[in-house]
Amino acid sequence: MTHTTLAGPAARTSAELIRADEAALAHNYHPLPVVVSRAEGAWVEDVEGRRYLDMLAGYSALNFGHRHPALIDAARRQLDEVTLTSRAFHNDRLAGFAESLSALVGLEMVLPMNTGAEAVESAVKVARKWAYEVKGVAPGRATVIVAAGNFHGRTTTIVSFSDDETARGGFGPFTPGFRIVPYDDLAALEVAIDETTAAVLIEPIQGEAGVLIPSDGYLAGVRELTRRTGVLFIADEIQSGLGRTGTTLAVQHENVLPDMLLLGKALGGGIVPVSAVVADRDVLGVLRPGEHGSTFGGNPLAAAVGSAVVALLETGEFQRRAVELGAVLDSGLAALVGRGVTGYRQRGLWAGVDVDPAVGTGRQISERLAREGVLVKDTHGSTIRLAPPLTITEEELTTALGALAGVLG
Ligand SMILES: Cc1ncc(COP(=O)(O)O)c(C=O)c1O
Repeated sequence: MTHTTLAGPAARTSAELIRADEAALAHNYHPLPVVVSRAEGAWVEDVEGRRYLDMLAGYSALNFGHRHPALIDAARRQLDEVTLTSRAFHNDRLAGFAESLSALVGLEMVLPMNTGAEAVESAVKVARKWAYEVKGVAPGRATVIVAAGNFHGRTTTIVSFSDDETARGGFGPFTPGFRIVPYDDLAALEVAIDETTAAVLIEPIQGEAGVLIPSDGYLAGVRELTRRTGVLFIADEIQSGLGRTGTTLAVQHENVLPDMLLLGKALGGGIVPVSAVVADRDVLGVLRPGEHGSTFGGNPLAAAVGSAVVALLETGEFQRRAVELGAVLDSGLAALVGRGVTGYRQRGLWAGVDVDPAVGTGRQISERLAREGVLVKDTHGSTIRLAPPLTITEEELTTALGALAGVLG
């Protein structure tokens, strides 16, 4: 990384900045004690100039690495033209973004939003409206079926259908109209579907739950069941999508096309928040002017970056890298089983690694790794999540795996 330092005499140290964060910010996160001030590719640098390999990549928001040149270039060029119009007017970037994204995933229309949670909220609204207007569900009765262990975001409605007490506790009353069934259980799903069911909303791989990969045939089974019963299949690919698992979408491992696809995170290239609901006209067409919206959704800067992201994915290079380097990740993790790792789940460049509690908690392992210059994040006590940028080199990945072996040994 070449750069001129911005640090003047008043620059604060990592320790000072962490203390300042604790005093000035709501405590809704518990970050690792690393204060990043610069980044490039798979590397970040802290205020003291220490370098770390970023093996989390913003929970997949940085699939193309930090500051990918094509994405930075698209953003820079757009900054010199127009950044925000609101949807009160058209802008010259949005149509191209929607057309290319639709073509990439094979669905007809795009509803642009900003954060992942907004895409999920939007999909729930669209599914309910579709249920009343198209399916004929009695007014006020529509239900959406979700999976146990889900993570779809943090808004009031979304935590209403979470089964994680940390996410829900103290935030009621909750939005009604959701049913939770066990993940990866087609029989339970079939029993739960009735005449009120608007949609089934699932993550094709549950990231937050520890990178839980359902059994082969589950996603195809959900597709068949929802089609047979006249229910929408909503796939939340906000974390699993856009190259992470070795295909553009995780559902493509089973050749499945959902009715509604939710994208976010990497869609904004790690530069701006960009999310989208993508669906065919017979579904998204239920929305009419005034019924849904967002001031920033579909802004020209987001559309320019989003278009550049789609262009990167159209090359197939990142999906290919996820497959090839995924094999390296898989064999590296396999070698650690019995040596501090009790098990792991991996698809593409994404893994949930269960650490032997005798060696340490996920948090302790993450802290030890940070001291060795590798950044990961724990989830659910003894699991750590690995989701490096898809641009990482084999050498960098091997370095990270070596560091993991070192802190477990
Ligand atoms: C599967 C899934 N859906 C939705 C979200 C929410 O996205 P955001 O944090 O951008 O609201 C996340 C975030 O981690 C996610 O992993």
